[in-house]
Amino acid sequence: MPSETIFRNARIVLPEEVVTGSVRIVDGVIADIDTGAVSVGDDFEGDYLIPGLVELHTDHLEGHYAPRPGVRWNAVAAVQAHDGQIATSGITTVFDCLRMGADEDGGFQPGEMRALADAIEMAGKEGRLRAEHFIHLRCEVSAPDVLTSFNGFLDDRRVRLASLMDHAPGQRQFQTMGQYTLYYKTKRGMSDEAFERYVTLRKEQSQRFSGPHREVISQHCRANGVTLASHDDATLDHVGEAIDQGVRLAEFPTSIEAARASHEAGMSVLMGAPNVVRGGSHSGNIAARDLAEAGILDVLSSDYIPSSLLQAAFKLGEEVETIGLPKAIALVTSTPARTVGLDDRGRIAEGAKADIVRVRNRGGEIPVVRSVWRSGERVA
Ligand SMILES: [Fe+2]
Repeated sequence: MPSETIFRNARIVLPEEVVTGSVRIVDGVIADIDTGAVSVGDDFEGDYLIPGLVELHTDHLEGHYAPRPGVRWNAVAAVQAHDGQIATSGITTVFDCLRMGADEDGGFQPGEMRALADAIEMAGKEGRLRAEHFIHLRCEVSAPDVLTSFNGFLDDRRVRLASLMDHAPGQRQFQTMGQYTLYYKTKRGMSDEAFERYVTLRKEQSQRFSGPHREVISQHCRANGVTLASHDDATLDHVGEAIDQGVRLAEFPTSIEAARASHEAGMSVLMGAPNVVRGGSHSGNIAARDLAEAGILDVLSSDYIPSSLLQAAFKLGEEVETIGLPKAIALVTSTPARTVGLDDRGRIAEGAKADIVRVRNRGGEIPVVRSVWRSGERVA
């Protein structure tokens, strides 16, 4: 007997419009969408019915695994706690960021990222997780040891996304020294001499390693169907380099011109949902909302606050007339899914995976996630 579920009296966010009606799910897949009134099924009481959110760049797992400097939590328990917050934020597909190469934020020992990946794999196999988890390798190409970490993931089928980043001073996110100094000297209370030595070292590392590491990693990804992302691109030269390397996702471009050029080259431009919610970037770069209004924003990511993803989508959908709710929801569902080759999900349409979120939003800034289903199964 096929399993069947009907959700009725819902405001259904379709790819192009919002309609009131019902959605029928058979064996984990959306079977049909009806705009008439039906009397059987789970009553949504006029709440929104949207696709499960697809999150491409979150480092939120780190906080559960390393909650205090020097403290490490059981990796499986950390993955479960992270997963719980992800699912109750309406996210049904998540790419967990793991750091490859010691960078400025470092602090992890070699092998810890592999151990976290193994915990994600095991938790998934044992049916402990609500969302579907994939891995996003954040590769700090300026780090001498990036390939040592990266090589531990060559055969890992959960890796579907890799980003190429260079956080050395004078590069991309830190084109000028002001932000870099604030980030790494002021916040850590480094002495002038120690900071100067550190800056010299990081500049040398970037000069020496970034080019060759970029090449090796991008080649492996192209050959193995792993989507490549650029990170913090600032100039047209950066974008040109990304085009040459086959990049499909431009993460956090730091200038409007880099964002526009990436979008026009067919890449999906990703910005942080916290940036939309806060009304600007925490590191002083461009505002996501400006890109959205200019029609060159393609994907939002929750970055460091899982619940910001849904909040930002509703904020843009309701406040920016040229966007509207269907397009705003696409920023957190169908476009990120398509960018990483997950074409089976991210939209309310016949034949799509029944990843569904019931959202109540009746005034106020913050929508409420009331229930979540993955492949038709209730997970939150
Ligand atoms: Fe960055």
